[in-house]
Amino acid sequence: MVERRAEHAVKFFYSHLFWHNPGVRDLFPVSSEDMERQRDRLFAALTHVISRLGDDEALGPYLRDLGRDHRKFLVRPEHYAVVGSSMLAALAETSGEAWTPQVEKAWTEAYQVIADAMLAGADASQDPPWWDAEVVRHLQYGQDIGVLTLRPHAPFPYLPGQYTSVSSDRVPRTWRTYSIGNAPRPDGTLDLHVSRIDHGRLSTALVRETRPGEVLRLGAAGGQLTFRRSDRPVSLIAAGTGWAPIRAMLEELADRPPDQDVRLFVVARDCAHLYDRPLIDAYGTSCGWLDVTYITPAPGRHRNEATERLATALSNRGLWPDQDVYLSGPAQFIDETARLLEDLGARPGRLFHDSVPAGAAEYGQGGRPLGFAEWLLNRPAPHWHNPSARAPREY
Ligand SMILES: Cc1cc2nc3c(=O)[nH]c(=O)nc-3n(C[C@H](O)[C@H](O)[C@H](O)COP(=O)(O)OP(=O)(O)OC[C@H]3O[C@@H](n4cnc5c(N)ncnc54)[C@H](O)[C@@H]3O)c2cc1C
Ligand code: HEM
Repeated sequence: MVERRAEHAVKFFYSHLFWHNPGVRDLFPVSSEDMERQRDRLFAALTHVISRLGDDEALGPYLRDLGRDHRKFLVRPEHYAVVGSSMLAALAETSGEAWTPQVEKAWTEAYQVIADAMLAGADASQDPPWWDAEVVRHLQYGQDIGVLTLRPHAPFPYLPGQYTSVSSDRVPRTWRTYSIGNAPRPDGTLDLHVSRIDHGRLSTALVRETRPGEVLRLGAAGGQLTFRRSDRPVSLIAAGTGWAPIRAMLEELADRPPDQDVRLFVVARDCAHLYDRPLIDAYGTSCGWLDVTYITPAPGRHRNEATERLATALSNRGLWPDQDVYLSGPAQFIDETARLLEDLGARPGRLFHDSVPAGAAEYGQGGRPLGFAEWLLNRPAPHWHNPSARAPREY
């Protein structure tokens, strides 16, 4: 019932929260677009939690990490009570006559269970609330892709393929997720591959403005896109800066080669517009277990050709039911490619990718989700760099 009136419920919730606790507004991003996104996230999180109440195995780690991660938003224990009262007020307002004493009791208890689990996660964490990380190098490819090398001030634990959340003083209180583009190094530095989105707040600041010497904040690493050793053949499929986590996994595999063959599919809108191609070619040559396929539409051909080529390349390689498949790229790309692979017989349980938080899916003009071919050829924002045009600019 509440979900059907989610927009109203969430507006009521935030108005109630900020009216009664004006100081809490300062914890949230300034932009109204971010607040809208936060509405989606909050409801996605609540739906996720409520539908799994009682399933401690699924919910325990989720709430523990959510509580740990809320410390980077400067959320303090006392905030949980005020958020709880505003949430109950919003639910009561939205539910109308259905808000009976039993319903109220159930929601009050449910919120307390959630808040207690998050607070316990925050309390038990040995991690700092965030890691300060200095930018030590900034390579800019063309106008819109930046590879930033960061040196965290304290050891930053992660596995190849994982992502971190990033914040910059240039865009206060705004956190975005970026994959880490390398396996852990002895000097502790890590690379982020950032593709600038038109009007994108953090990506623009990172690619166009951020310079060595600046300090960014990093949240704890997360994500499920880590390599599972098995005797099954493996396919890695990357699009755009989705190459970053795949590169990290390949670095790990180059260090400790797998027993099985690995097929790498690199999807780009144009073969000449792939910023890390020299390195991918070098991996293809030096790693006997690696087979590289680039998937691009022929120049000037209709956009659907890209989809057809991807489908053809994937179906020609057969063996899908027996493979582990790792997918990385924009949300729409992952959705469509996962569907394509399942149609080809791949087992859903063997397709690995990170689920995209609600509200983070990429949309075309008018808020309509982009089709894969549209994304590939008419993607509105990130522009591909042509490496043959100019060497990267180093800051
Ligand atoms: C698990 C995960 C890993 C990620 N890894 C990377 C990575 O390695 N490199 C990287 O560059 N990005 C990555 N992203 C995307 C990144 O988190 C940001 O969403 C992106 O940088 C845009 O943030 P922004 O603040 O610049 O744009 P915002 O200010 O948030 O958005 C501005 C406008 O652009 C729209 N928009 C947002 N994203 C896109 C998009 N991709 N295409 C078209 N329109 C968009 C928004 O709806 C909004 O209207 C990842 C996302 C997830 C969920
Ligand atoms: C039931 C308890 C809560 C749940 C389920 C919840 C859920 C979430 C989720 C899923 C996110 C997005 C996380 C991300 O993108 O990394 C988020 C972000 C956030 N939450 Fe909570 N939260 C809860 C309590 C609180 C409390 C008590 C506060 C304090 C005021 C708070 C403040 C914030 C802030 C400031 C953000 C970042 C907003 C942004 O980046 O746009 N949350 N919350």
